[in-house]
Amino acid sequence: MSQPQSGILLEHRRFAIYLEAMVQDDVAALRQAIPVFLQQLDQLQKRWPDAGLGAVVAFGPALWNDLCPGNSTAELKDFQPMGKGMAPATQRDLLIHIQSLRHDVNFSLAQAAVTAFGEAIQIVEETHGFRWVEERDLSGFVDGTENPQGEQRPLVALIAEGENAGGSYVFSQRWQHNLSMFNRLAVNRQEQIIGRSKQDNEELEGDARPATSHVSRVDLKEEGKGLKILRQSLPYGTASGTNGLFFLAYCATLYNIERQLLSMFGELDNKFDAMLRFTKPVSGSYFYAPSLQQLTAL
Ligand code: HEM
Ligand code: MG
Repeated sequence: MSQPQSGILLEHRRFAIYLEAMVQDDVAALRQAIPVFLQQLDQLQKRWPDAGLGAVVAFGPALWNDLCPGNSTAELKDFQPMGKGMAPATQRDLLIHIQSLRHDVNFSLAQAAVTAFGEAIQIVEETHGFRWVEERDLSGFVDGTENPQGEQRPLVALIAEGENAGGSYVFSQRWQHNLSMFNRLAVNRQEQIIGRSKQDNEELEGDARPATSHVSRVDLKEEGKGLKILRQSLPYGTASGTNGLFFLAYCATLYNIERQLLSMFGELDNKFDAMLRFTKPVSGSYFYAPSLQQLTAL
């Protein structure tokens, strides 16, 4: 299989930087910036081998079509609002996802990205993610438990065959939590919202797990097969101000991500994810992350 970009499959990285940008008309400048960025990435990987640094450059539908006309990313499309606007669409042109064990090394690569892409892009959102204690979301619930592990990760995240082998569909969505509201709820209410127990992180069974719990909304099966996605989300923000989860998912098919979203935002059965009581999405975009070969051929 052709090689995926280095940031997609990584496990247990402690920090991430998520950059989202719009592109001015001139895609020639963007094309030139890509190899410069990849070279900086390579240099930082060699300089700080223990950082486990990886990165992904991904494109929104319009930009991808400009860069690679006729390419068969059949499922790629603009993200549209869901749940009567509860999930806003802010479709961006470009996503740069950086992750490693070191925020300082990530920051160096983000600086290199800003320099390399320069005037070719306008960065509209920069979010710094960090892994919180025991891999918990800021709600206090462990996040990532049912994420695919090991050899399952490429099977779930990467397109297996054809010209896009090694590529991946991506969804980004920044969520803002209202933690003081969530923390006022009794722990058993919080657990019904998430669908797992808080302290020991066990999935709630049967009637104990409401159909509106987050896990019930997204743990979907069709014809006996789970609709799996690979999540690379991290908490972000400040203790005194705005904070939440920067949600990021990779998948071999956009379909799985979209079904989960439709299920969360009442578009399948009029039931909404109970998490929406304490947190809300403030952005949303679909992207395509080409394989390394595709990216370097642009
Ligand atoms: C599971 C938190 C948004 C998809 C979980 C779990 C937590 C969590 C605590 C249980 C542990 C685990 O298996 O990881 C959150 C928070 C979100 C958020 C705080 C936003 C504020 C989303 C979105 C999607 C999603 C937008 C899909 C588009 C999933 C999936 C699972 C999961 C697939 C695994 C379910 C299973 O198979 O049991 N999430 N999540 N999450 N979440 Fe989320
Ligand atoms: Mg499950």
